[in-house]
Amino acid sequence: TDGVLVDRYGRVARDLRVSLTDRCNLRCTYCMPAEGLPWLAESRLLTDDEIVRLVRVAVHRLGITEVRFTGGEPLIRPGLVDIVSAVAELAPRPRISLTTNGLGLARIAPALRAAGLDRVNVSLDTLDRARFTELTRRDRLPDVLAGLAGAAEAGLTPVKINAVLMRGVNDDEAPALLRFALAHGYELRFIEQMPLDAQHGWDRATMVTAEEILAALRAEFDLREDPAERGAAPAETWLVDGGPARVGVIGSVTRPFCGDCDRTRLTADGQVRACLFATEESDLRGALRGGADDAELARRWRTAMWGKRAGHGIDDPTFLQPARPMSAIGG
Ligand code: GTP
Ligand code: 5AD
Ligand code: SF4
Repeated sequence: TDGVLVDRYGRVARDLRVSLTDRCNLRCTYCMPAEGLPWLAESRLLTDDEIVRLVRVAVHRLGITEVRFTGGEPLIRPGLVDIVSAVAELAPRPRISLTTNGLGLARIAPALRAAGLDRVNVSLDTLDRARFTELTRRDRLPDVLAGLAGAAEAGLTPVKINAVLMRGVNDDEAPALLRFALAHGYELRFIEQMPLDAQHGWDRATMVTAEEILAALRAEFDLREDPAERGAAPAETWLVDGGPARVGVIGSVTRPFCGDCDRTRLTADGQVRACLFATEESDLRGALRGGADDAELARRWRTAMWGKRAGHGIDDPTFLQPARPMSAIGG
């Protein structure tokens, strides 16, 4: 056996996040400009078979037990259902999840469920249609709401909602989003914005913090500490009004969880990244297309993870935002 994916600080990666495309059908202002980005050329994208092969290496040789598909927007990848089916046939079978903006999810949720997808996380930052249109630059709020309902109906549960709050844009909506999530049985998590936008417009001084979000929620809800083990989860969770419903806050910036990180990442163009904020990538696509066998791919992956840094370093005076934006790294 090749052993697990461990870094020099002793963290073991069990959770693989695979970006299936850098493209997206929304244009969230905190993510990318209205005109989109210079997308990856087709020839640089991993094929469906190449993705499945690399996931197989991760599961069979590197101890990965959780696989999450992200993007860009993973639902726009034509081979998604086939990729999920192939990954669900691996032994031992990993748990499989998807992070999506929800467009088109209502229609495809049953096929994804049948293929072996376990659950979904859907991004939704506002419940106001005009605001949604301004924030994502597309008038698609009804599609996202239908996507959430369709996912729940198909059994892709728990359905989680990711909400990024931005000052002066939607920072007044925390209680309304929680009321909505409670009414529908979705698990809501608020996310602190990170410096990963293509436009480099992130500003620590105006970022809505975990503390502010909790204060806004406490004005309307009773939040108690969740007795459940947090493990390596980015979200800290609270029981709402006595439970069982929960709400989460992902305080990546003010409450970093890097010390417990269990992630490794594969970009849509076949680069391993040890961290969202890594400055280096390891080219598995080149190795794979050059004829490397599974043992060699696993060896390269382990080498890449050994170099993982202790933390994201956002507060370091020398911090530099990664060259790639979040949409190209994988959320
Ligand atoms: P669950 O397994 O459902 O808890 O998923 P998740 O929260 O890990 O995944 P999701 O794709 O829904 O990500 C939600 C948010 O978590 C992202 O927007 C990021 O803000 C944050 N996040 C995910 N992975 C990382 C990571 O490796 N580092 C940091 N700092 N934040 C991350
Ligand atoms: N900081 C934090 N979260 C972000 N997302 C996109 N950009 C950022 C950012 N700069 C969120 C999306 C989605 C998740 C994968 O990441 O809203 O829910
Ligand atoms: Fe698309 Fe997600 Fe970026 Fe919005 S945040 S534009 S949904 S990749």
